[in-house]
Amino acid sequence: MDKKEALDALKKKMEQDTSLPLMPANLVFGEGSANAKVLCIGEAPGAKEDKEGRPFVGRSGQLLNRLFDGVGWRREDVYITNIVKRRPPDNRDPSPEEIEAYKPYLSEQVEIIDPRVIMTLGRFSMRYFIPEGKITRDQGRVFQVDGRLVVPMFHPAAALRSTRTLKALMASFKELASMIYTRK
Ligand code: URA
Repeated sequence: MDKKEALDALKKKMEQDTSLPLMPANLVFGEGSANAKVLCIGEAPGAKEDKEGRPFVGRSGQLLNRLFDGVGWRREDVYITNIVKRRPPDNRDPSPEEIEAYKPYLSEQVEIIDPRVIMTLGRFSMRYFIPEGKITRDQGRVFQVDGRLVVPMFHPAAALRSTRTLKALMASFKELASMIYTRK
């Protein structure tokens, strides 16, 4: 089974798992290249993502696309997903129980894709890999977690609310892109 087939099989397994919370919202499994070097992990789908069944297609997603463009990456070459794969009602933060319930599926996704770099967007996905992390202190820093590089980034939604956050996020994207380019 290649990576794409393994991801398709995992998606099917998730669709059939009736024990998962936040049903009957649509499953937003993730999208992108199964062979991506960079895996981006957000928090949870919003209304537009729920409707389309795709991650980061609303305002945060548009900003994410601009950030990719700014460093010469194509959205379809990275893989994009969320820690919680169904929309919490009223866009509230995902609860610890919801994060816990979806965790095994995220772990399996990470194992299958086996990316060189994991970019976490926002504090929930950062804490999945770096439990003691502080987003304002650690954004843009490179961590080694279980043999992988993990780079916490501000969530694009935060950058839509603050120019300072946006500038920091853009700078971190540039640094990460040059690191990936130069580091074999
Ligand atoms: N915010 C997220 O964290 N994920 C999405 O898919 C959309 C918005």
